[in-house]
Amino acid sequence: MFITFEGTEGCGKSTLIRNLSTRLQTLGVAHIITREPGGSRTAEEIRKIILNEEMDPLTELFLYEAARAEHFRNTVAPALKQGKWVLCDRFTDSTLAYQGYARGIPLPMIRTLNRIASNRKSPDLTFFLDLPVEIGLARASDPNRFEREGVVFQNKVRKGFLEIARKEKKRFRVIRVSELDPEQVCEKVIRALKSHLRKSL
Ligand code: TYD
Repeated sequence: MFITFEGTEGCGKSTLIRNLSTRLQTLGVAHIITREPGGSRTAEEIRKIILNEEMDPLTELFLYEAARAEHFRNTVAPALKQGKWVLCDRFTDSTLAYQGYARGIPLPMIRTLNRIASNRKSPDLTFFLDLPVEIGLARASDPNRFEREGVVFQNKVRKGFLEIARKEKKRFRVIRVSELDPEQVCEKVIRALKSHLRKSL
């Protein structure tokens, strides 16, 4: 299984991934945790540049896709080939939401680059942790470049994710996290995974 996790800032992705990993370990499911941008040596170097430097939106897009090409070929594909599950913190949908819906780069161009960078592999399931952006931003302690863009930008990102989720109902699971504690979020994800696995058997 290739599972990706998406959301706006402060939605609790990292906590969820950690909790889910613990559950999978007890179930004996071999898996790796990885992230974008990053997840391989060169991609982590690219990450430092993206998150710290100001740049043209097009440069930003190309760097995310360059990091993805590295990460996919060196980390994701080999793990899947070994039969491991891959839990990935952000993937191609983040590029559509941030660089596309929020920054305004045409979506068809991003879809093409996403396909090239990820070798046409799309996730089996994508969880979108939906949270009002004001709540998420209030949680961010050390804001990065994107978090500093503020509420208007983050709302564009959120609307983008929700639109992608509407278009790709089979792959997406939207979880409204504002009323849930981390354990409840993890339970929902496990239930969704079990139901997906039953259907695909
Ligand atoms: P990070 O600190 O990992 O944020 P988070 O914990 O919210 O995932 O920084 C990653 C940032 O990069 C995040 O603000 C979203 C952004 N991003 C894009 O704009 N495009 C992309 O394709 C990806 C993968 C991330």
